[in-house]
Amino acid sequence: MTEPETDSERDIDAETDGGVAESDTSETDPAKNGAADGEAGGSVSIAAPDIGSDAIDRVESVLESGMLADGPEVRAFEDEFAAYCGAERAVATSNGTTALHAALEALGLEDGEGVITSPFSFVASANAIRLAGGTPVFADIDPETYTLDPSAVERVLTERDDVVGIMPVHLYGLAADMKAIGDLADEHDLFVLEDACQAHGAEIDGDRAGTLGDAACFSFYPTKNMTTGEGGIITTDRNDVADRAAGYVNHGRDVGDDASYEHIELGHNHRMTSMAGAVGRAQLERLPEFNRQRRENAAYYDEQLAELPIETPTAPEGYRHVYHQYTIRTEDRESLAATLDEHGVDTAVYYDTPIHRQPAYETVSTAAETLPNAERAAETVLSLPVHPSLSERDRRTVVDAVQDHFHPQ
Ligand SMILES: Cc1ncc(COP(=O)(O)O)c(C=O)c1O
Repeated sequence: MTEPETDSERDIDAETDGGVAESDTSETDPAKNGAADGEAGGSVSIAAPDIGSDAIDRVESVLESGMLADGPEVRAFEDEFAAYCGAERAVATSNGTTALHAALEALGLEDGEGVITSPFSFVASANAIRLAGGTPVFADIDPETYTLDPSAVERVLTERDDVVGIMPVHLYGLAADMKAIGDLADEHDLFVLEDACQAHGAEIDGDRAGTLGDAACFSFYPTKNMTTGEGGIITTDRNDVADRAAGYVNHGRDVGDDASYEHIELGHNHRMTSMAGAVGRAQLERLPEFNRQRRENAAYYDEQLAELPIETPTAPEGYRHVYHQYTIRTEDRESLAATLDEHGVDTAVYYDTPIHRQPAYETVSTAAETLPNAERAAETVLSLPVHPSLSERDRRTVVDAVQDHFHPQ
């Protein structure tokens, strides 16, 4: 495994990922996804994509090859990502949203059918259901894990008969309760699509996200545990779903051996580029080390922040959290964020508005029950920098700042 190279002078604006940056991000440059030179104020950024020289070399080779759109580089990335998850198949896409959209089409979602999902996620989760013609039906989250609460899903299922699938979101790098959700799906004959956009490498009892439902989708946005710039992928053990998704992302083109310009159903262009595939292959080699560092940073915070009046993240027994975010909970969020900002530490709120409260959802009657846990989480969560490019000094700065807030010297 290549040693990760760190570059703490790059950071990223949390707002591009749907979160709300609590700190001042006025230095950001949209041309670099908000990447800014970190020297100003010596800030500890909330995210910092680490693109090594290996990825750059691979992209150069792709550019020289002239095979820029779909091609062997993307096929190789699909095979390698599927193998990493332990899934049979993978279909690469242009981003996580298009992965979810194509997966829902491939799972056979029909117009007007309901899919139960979490109201406490990036809006893309529910948008994908609407884009595929379905209706998002929100069930509340568990207040400890922030993921879909199976008992809330069960209540929704007793109230509605239009539901055909469940789309749990593995939020912040922690898998949802897939055993209980899978049991409900079996009982009611529903599909399960994992929104694993934030959970590359997360596990339950040794089984990886990407293999815990009928299909799963990942995002490779720059803040994620690995990136391709923009990019996404679907994993599945089901050949019917993989074939249909591969067709859907390529205008419904026949994906058989004799693939020609025969388009067997309506589709889209949701394809990944070969440059993105090349970056993905290089990043995937480093993902185990990236995740190890995230987990080490999280363990350090757990220990150092244990005595303070905040809730630190929890993971149920047997769950491997990969800390896409290290999200604490506090009634004192705004003033804590302000103190951290004064110490040069970026923070972000993922998410301050639950999806059912978004203006774009005003006219969509999607909630089947009240959602107090999601509403409460939106008012109290705060994410601290946990990415693998943090130095020891960065981590200490974060801890000192939080301690200083509660116990000023
Ligand atoms: C939970 C979740 N679902 C879906 C998406 C959509 O992925 P993308 O931004 O790659 O379209 C994201 C990305 O931020 C996400 O965090």
